[in-house]
Amino acid sequence: MKTNLRGRDFISTQEWTKEELETVLQLASDLKMKWGLDLPTRLLEDKTLFMLFFFSSTRTRNSFEAGMTRLGGHAIFLEPDKMQISHGDTPKEIGKILSSYGHGIAIRHCDWGDGNKYLRDVAEHARVPVINMQCDIYHPCQAMADLMTCIEKKGDMKGKKVVMSWAYAKSYTKPLSLPQSVIELFTQFGADVVLAHPPAFDLMPEILDNAASNARKTGGSFKIVHDMDEAFVGADVVYPKSWGPLVAVQDSSKMVDTIRQYESWICDERRMSLAKEDAIYMHCLPADRGVEVTDAVIDGPQSVVYDQAENRMHVQNAIMALTMGGR
Ligand code: CP
Repeated sequence: MKTNLRGRDFISTQEWTKEELETVLQLASDLKMKWGLDLPTRLLEDKTLFMLFFFSSTRTRNSFEAGMTRLGGHAIFLEPDKMQISHGDTPKEIGKILSSYGHGIAIRHCDWGDGNKYLRDVAEHARVPVINMQCDIYHPCQAMADLMTCIEKKGDMKGKKVVMSWAYAKSYTKPLSLPQSVIELFTQFGADVVLAHPPAFDLMPEILDNAASNARKTGGSFKIVHDMDEAFVGADVVYPKSWGPLVAVQDSSKMVDTIRQYESWICDERRMSLAKEDAIYMHCLPADRGVEVTDAVIDGPQSVVYDQAENRMHVQNAIMALTMGGR
């Protein structure tokens, strides 16, 4: 367990060691138990978190905001169009000025090619921790909530087959951030990770390298397949979710045409029957019901989607308490 995380940014899980991430999970479990017992956990009394959203949110905004209330502090919701960002406030101004008023800056910026860079530019100038609420490359708080959920349901991830699969979706071209964070984090915890997607839906090469390298170090494994059925066979955990063909296709109209070719990539009861009988179904939400997943699966007994959503608050409270508070 680590006791020196005060001041650290949380931009990707890959930049934290397994021991540091385990510290987050331990504290998150303790905070969750106290939440269940309605015991006080005022670890960030009189502290302020600024939450800057360039993109919409249900879970992230509300879990961070409710989380800061629970920790005895205050969260301020910021939208770029209500600020002076379009009139000249650069990441330097945001980092320096918000640091002078508060204790943490959380940012969601998912624009492909811009989001992660924006977070890192703010972090360079901030005197307080910067927490990634999702960028174009990573969604580390979601992946930590997912790992916590898997450990609660399945125990140690070593030897568990975890399938991160692409799925069809109509609503919008979703970022790569969730699958990228999941394959990095679960290989760091020794799982046998299978990434499944149609050919044009590659993830970023450096992320694939990190997952393969993590698996080598932890004794887990990492492989890529292009068949959803093949991936599901014998799985302990299935996580079918859409993302855009952002690495392979540059033109946005071509992206839509590319996605439309794979309508058959839906998680239904037949596919769930290929996984282990006690396999769990995961989705970070929002899901395209009837497109990414059938109602029977997402509302069925194997689904853990609401546990994942609740655990967002507990892992984030742990991350905030450790980085914005402590010694
Ligand atoms: N899973 C997730 O990040 O949800 P929101 O987009 O609603 O925050």
